Amino acid sequence: MKPINVGLLGIGTVGGGTFTVLKRNAEEITRRAGRPICITTVADKNLELARKVTGGDAKLTDDAFAVVTDPEIDIVVELIGGYGVAKELVLKAIENGKHVVTANKALLAVHGNEIFAAAQKKGVMVAFEAAVAGGIPIIKALREGLTANRIEWLAGIINGTTNFILSEMRDKGLPFADVLKEAQALGYAEADPTFDIEGVDAAHKATIMSAIAFGIPMQFDKAYVEGISKLDAVDIAYAEQLGYRIKLLGIARRREQGVELRVHPTLIPAKRLIANVEGAMNAVLVQGDAVGATLYYGKGAGAEPTASAVIADLVDVTRLHTSDPEHRVPHLAFQPDQVRDVPV
Ligand code: HSE
Repeated sequence: MKPINVGLLGIGTVGGGTFTVLKRNAEEITRRAGRPICITTVADKNLELARKVTGGDAKLTDDAFAVVTDPEIDIVVELIGGYGVAKELVLKAIENGKHVVTANKALLAVHGNEIFAAAQKKGVMVAFEAAVAGGIPIIKALREGLTANRIEWLAGIINGTTNFILSEMRDKGLPFADVLKEAQALGYAEADPTFDIEGVDAAHKATIMSAIAFGIPMQFDKAYVEGISKLDAVDIAYAEQLGYRIKLLGIARRREQGVELRVHPTLIPAKRLIANVEGAMNAVLVQGDAVGATLYYGKGAGAEPTASAVIADLVDVTRLHTSDPEHRVPHLAFQPDQVRDVPV
C-alpha cells in the first residue's frame, strides 16, 4: 500500500500530539484510512524541538514553503496558527494541488471564504475539524450527522482557557492572572491569550460553526464579541448565590433578518448540563428541527484531543480524496482475524 505523504507545518503542542498519536495508533489508522499516513516532513523554526519530538522519523526543515511546494507531499497539515504566514502557506499548498488539514480557526474565520474558493477551484480539500472545540467532532456532526436538519441555533462553551479560568475562580477562589498562567502552562491558551480572554477565539469558532450550520459565508466581522476580562470574583459569587453559573458562550441563531452571531458571558441556571461543564472542557448544544436538541461534550484544547481531530481529517482526506473507490466506504474495514469469541 502506497503511503500518503504528509508535510506537517509546526511541531508545537498540537503538532507534537499529532505525531505521537499517529505513531501510537498507526495500525488502526492505516486500516481506517486504507493506506498508511506518514508524516514525511516537518517544518518548524525550532529544529531542535522538532528533532526531539520526531526522534529521527521525519525529514526536518525550517523552510515551510519548501514543504508546501514539494511534489512528494500529498497533504499539508498547518499548525502554525495566526493569519500571517499561515495564510500564505495554505494558499501556496492549495495552488500546488495539496489537500490541507488545519486547526487554524483564526485563519478560517477571517480568510476562510478566500481559502475555500481557492480550494474549490483547484479541486482539493481543506479540512478543519480541529479548528473548533478540539477533540469534539462538532464539524462532522454539523456537516454529516445533522445534515437532514434545518439548524435553528447552536450555543457552546468553545474556549477551554476561559472556561478553565471561570471554573478555577469559582471553585478555588484563585485570582484571574494566576489561573491564566496555569492555562498557558497546560497548553490551552493561544499564543496571544487576549484572543481567549476577550472572546475572539470563541468568536472565530462560532463563525466557523455558523457557516457550516447555516450555509453562510464566514462573517467574523459581523459577530458581537465580549470576553471575560471585565468579570470579577464577586460577579461569579453573586451568580452562584442566585443559582446561576457564568459561562462564556458562543451563540449562532437563525433569525428572520439573518444569522445572529455573538460571544459573551452568559448566566446559565446551575441545574443545566452545560452550566456544569468545568475546566478546559468544551460543550456545544445544537438545535435541529428534526432531531431536537443535541449536546456534544469533550476536551476542547490540548495536545492529544486536538490531534485526535487533526488525524480524523487526515483519515477522511486520505479515504475520500486520495484513495481507490473501494476505500471510500465508512470505517467498516475490520480484519476477520480480529473477530474473536469473547467469553462471558
Ligand atoms: N485557546 C483555545 C482554547 C485552544 O482555550 O480553547 C483550543 O482552540
